[in-house]
Amino acid sequence: MKTKIFCDIADFKTIKFFNKKSIVDGFTTNPSLMRLAGAKNYKDYSLKILKVCKKKPISFEVFADEPKEMLKQAYKINTWGKNVYVKIPVVNSKGLFMGSVIKELSDKGIKLNITAVYTYEQTTKIYKSLNKKTKSIISIFAGRMADKGKDPLPIFKKSISLTKKNKNIEILWASTREAYNYIQAKQLKCNIITMPPKVINQISSFGKSFKSMTVDTVKGFLTDSKKSKFRL
Ligand code: G3P
Repeated sequence: MKTKIFCDIADFKTIKFFNKKSIVDGFTTNPSLMRLAGAKNYKDYSLKILKVCKKKPISFEVFADEPKEMLKQAYKINTWGKNVYVKIPVVNSKGLFMGSVIKELSDKGIKLNITAVYTYEQTTKIYKSLNKKTKSIISIFAGRMADKGKDPLPIFKKSISLTKKNKNIEILWASTREAYNYIQAKQLKCNIITMPPKVINQISSFGKSFKSMTVDTVKGFLTDSKKSKFRL
C-alpha cells in the first residue's frame, strides 16, 4: 500500500504550486497555518484556495470551542467543496471529548479529519464515534510528541491495527519534523503523512549516495569558509 503525502500548509501560492505536483496527494491546514499565511477572512481565504485546489483533499479546521458552535462551523465548511475534510479537534480547550460532534457529523456523511490526537485511548474513542461508511482521517501529532521526549511509534502501531480493516478510516502522521518520518510512516503502513514543503523537497532528493552526501557536506563548509574569508 502507498503512504500518501499531504502538504501541511495554508499559504496560497504554495498550495497552487504543489497542487500541480504528483508527489502531493492532498493538503492539511489549521488555524495557526491560516494565520501564518496572512488570512484575514477565514471563509474568503479558504474559498480562494479551493479555486485552485478543486480535486485533491484539503482539510479546514473549525475554530469554535463549544460543541454547538463547532457543529455550526462544520456544516458551513462542509459546503465549501466536495474535496473538503472538516477538521475537528478531538477535545475542546477544556479537554472535553468532542464525541457527540464527531458522531453527528460523521452520521450525516460529512468527511472529517479528527486532529490533535496524542493517545491510543483517543483513537479508540474517535473510532467508536465515527460512522464507518463515511470517509475520515485521524491525525496523530508525532512531532509534538517527540518534542516532549515521547515515542510516537506505539500509538501509530496500535491505531493502524485498529483501523486497517476499514478502508474509509485513515490514520495520518501529523506534525512531521524530518524527512525520515516518511520512511517511518511507510514502514508502519500509515495511510497518510502530512509534511511542510521543506520536507517534501527533501524527500524529492531521497536516494542520494553517502559518497555524494559527504562531498556535498565538505563543499558546504568550504564555501562558507570562503564567503567569510576565514584566515589562520
Ligand atoms: O496540521 C497539523 C500538524 O501537522 C501541525 O504540525 O508542525 O505545528 O506540530 P506542527
